[in-house]
Amino acid sequence: MLALDGITVRFGDRPVLHGVDVTVAQGELLAVLGANGSGKSTLLRAAAGLVPVDSGAVTVDGRARERLDIALVFQQIHLVRRRSVLSNVCAGALGRLPLRSSLLRFPDAVKEEAMACLDRVGLADRAHDRAGSLSGGQQQRVAVARALCQRSPVLLADEPVSALDPAASEQVLALLAELAHVERLAVLAVLHQPAYAARHADRVVGLRAGRVVLDGAPDQPVDALYRPASLEAVS
Ligand SMILES: Nc1ncnc2c1ncn2[C@@H]1O[C@H](COP(=O)(O)OP(=O)(O)OP(=O)(O)O)[C@@H](O)[C@H]1O
Ligand SMILES: [Mg+2]
Repeated sequence: MLALDGITVRFGDRPVLHGVDVTVAQGELLAVLGANGSGKSTLLRAAAGLVPVDSGAVTVDGRARERLDIALVFQQIHLVRRRSVLSNVCAGALGRLPLRSSLLRFPDAVKEEAMACLDRVGLADRAHDRAGSLSGGQQQRVAVARALCQRSPVLLADEPVSALDPAASEQVLALLAELAHVERLAVLAVLHQPAYAARHADRVVGLRAGRVVLDGAPDQPVDALYRPASLEAVS
């Protein structure tokens, strides 16, 4: 469904991704692991078209990726805190509404769909509260609902649980897995804790210095990803 083919990204003359191949199937939650600076966020941003690639291709269902194909969820939860939860979720639909649509007045059909998305993440009862009044974990679930409201077949999440406590993290990751398995989305999540990947992901890809060095079962040993390069020679 989502295929990244030979993605190479340079910043200036410094290569950050070296011909990375990653696929995420429909109905699959793929976790991307790797040390700080290994290129995880750059890979996500390249997939979403937010950074230019030097070479390689991003396709969704075999055709060139279009803007609305991919929904994003980030570590820093980007909600409009003073607006209602419902209007934040409605904003997910903005990409397919006429340009003059405003954040103040969404069509009833969009509000209904947004309510269904909120229900999906277990927060329908908070629809009319200010987004800023929710806990961090709840806000991240609202961000997931907003991504759902975008109706994209692919969901990319960059460290979606790094700001959350363990219980909220489990909840958000279980939700992402469920969206993959039940709604048949292709979900790619960058995670920092291998244990979360082992518990929730269907497959794990490991990046090291901009290269895929591991691709397979979520519960395999991943320590090598985090070993300093200077120790490689002696190990
Ligand atoms: N806009 C940019 N301009 C220049 N260099 C960048 C830019 N974005 C990322 N880099 C560099 O690319 C490399 C990979 O960064 P990236 O953010 O993808 O790593 P990461 O795996 O997401 O790390 P972390 O776990 O810390 O989030 C780093 O060396 C970083 O300094
Ligand atoms: Mg990152």
